[in-house]
Amino acid sequence: MAGDSIGVTFSLPYEMAVVRPLRQTTEQERQAALISAHYNAELIPQELIYIDLSTDSGVSARSTAQLAATSTAKAVEPGMGLASEGSGAYNRLAAEIQRYFGFEYFVPTTQGRSAERIWMKVTVKPGSIVAGNMLFPSTRSHIEMSGAQFVDVISDAAHDFTSNEPFKGNIDVQKLEALIQEKGAEQISCVYVEFSVNACGGHPVSLANLKAVREITAAHKIPLFSDASRILENSFLIKEREAEHRQRSLADIVRDICALFDGGTMSALKDCLVDSGGLIFTRDRASHQKASMQSFLDGVQLSAGDMESITVALPEIFASEAHARQRFEQVKYLWHQLADTLPVLRPAGGHAVFIDLKKFFAGSTPQSFAAEALAAYIYLKSGVRLTKGPPLAPSQVPRGIELLRVAVPARKYLNGHMDDVANALRAAYANRDEIRALKKIDDLTRSRYDPGHFVVYELP
Ligand code: F0G
Repeated sequence: MAGDSIGVTFSLPYEMAVVRPLRQTTEQERQAALISAHYNAELIPQELIYIDLSTDSGVSARSTAQLAATSTAKAVEPGMGLASEGSGAYNRLAAEIQRYFGFEYFVPTTQGRSAERIWMKVTVKPGSIVAGNMLFPSTRSHIEMSGAQFVDVISDAAHDFTSNEPFKGNIDVQKLEALIQEKGAEQISCVYVEFSVNACGGHPVSLANLKAVREITAAHKIPLFSDASRILENSFLIKEREAEHRQRSLADIVRDICALFDGGTMSALKDCLVDSGGLIFTRDRASHQKASMQSFLDGVQLSAGDMESITVALPEIFASEAHARQRFEQVKYLWHQLADTLPVLRPAGGHAVFIDLKKFFAGSTPQSFAAEALAAYIYLKSGVRLTKGPPLAPSQVPRGIELLRVAVPARKYLNGHMDDVANALRAAYANRDEIRALKKIDDLTRSRYDPGHFVVYELP
C-alpha cells in the first residue's frame, strides 16, 4: 500500500500484539498424526498444524479493542433475555448496524446457520420456490427444511474456471425472469443473493447486477434477501472491478448494496472478524418480532461479549480500506504464486484460492477422494492444513467438479506463511504422481455426517 509521500508504504494495517508460537513437526510425527486422523486432515489436532487454511471463518485474529470490549462485557452484562432493548451491548450494536448497513431491525444470533434457520422459518412458505446464486449449503438446507425448493439462477460463467470474467457470482437475470414467468411471482418466496459466492471460487456479484435483480423483484413484488456474510469482500471487488465505483469508499458501496435488499442473514464469522455471531436484517417490524422471539425460543441469542466484538470490529473494518485491501492483496499474493503452475480458478477470489482438482490430477493417479488425498499429502510434507471447502452445489455436481479451497483467515498470517503454502502446493503438483489415492472406510457406527475416515488405496 503506497503512503502519501514518496518512498513511504503502509503494507500492513496492524502489528502482532499477541502471538501463538508454532511448533515445527517432523515428517515422522505428521505421518503418525495422519494415521491417527484416518488420513482426514480435518481431524488432526491444532497443535500439530503449522498453517491452517481450512477455513477463514471464525479464525481471524481479533484486535486488542475487540478483546478488551469482549472481556469487559462478559464481566458486566448478563446474557440477553427477551427485552433486547434493555441490553447496552445490543443497543451499541444496533447503532453500528444502522450506520454501516442501514437496517432498522436486526436480530443477533450465535452463527450464520442459526440466523438462516430462523429467517427461513419466518419468511419462506412451504411449497414455494427460492431463487438464488448457488448459495452456501447451510442456506440451501434451511430453505429446503422450510419446505421450499431452491432454484439456482447463477450465471453460467460461475461454472467456467478459466475465464477472467470479473463477476461470476452474478444472477442470470434471464434465468430469473424465465423462472418468474414459468412459476408465477406468487410462488416465489424470495430471491436470495450470496455475496462472493463461496462454492464456485469466491466470485463476487456486481452492483449493476444487484440493481437489475432489484428492479425485477420490485416489479414482481418478490422480497430480495441476501447472505451478506462476505459483503465487505464483495464490495472491495466491486471497487476494484466495476469502473464507476473505483473512487467510492467501501462504506458507501456497502450501504448502496444494503439499500437494495429487504433483509437477509449474515454469518459474522467472516467479514466481521469474530469467532461467534450471526445476524438477521430486516425492514419489517413484524418479521423482526417473530425472528426475535424465535431466537429466544431456540436459545441462539448472541452473548453480550460477542455483540461487543462485532460492534468494535465494524468501525475498524470501515475506518479505511486498508484492512479490506490488505486481505485481498494477501489472497492475490498467494494466487499469483500458484497461477502460473497450478490449475487455480480464475480470476482470484477475495478470501481463498481454489484449485481445480480434475486438472491437477489429469494424467496422473486416478483419484476418488482427490481433495482429501491432496490435503493428506500436503499435511504430510509441510504441516499445512487444507480441506475441501464447502460441499458442491447441485448445479455443480453433474459437471463432475472437484475443488480444493485454500482459505486465508483475515489478519492472521504473513506473506511468509503464504510463501510456505505456495512452496508446499507447487511441490505437491510437481510430485503429483506420488500422491496416494484414498478410499473411504465404510463404518456403520459413524453417520454420513461424521467426518470421513480413509485408508490409503493401493491401485491394482
Ligand atoms: N454463508 C456463507 C457464505 C458461508 O460461507 C457460511 C459458512 C455460512 C453462511 C454459515 O455461517 O458458519 O456462521 O454458521 N462458511 C464457513 C466456511 C463454514 O468455511 O466457509 P456459519
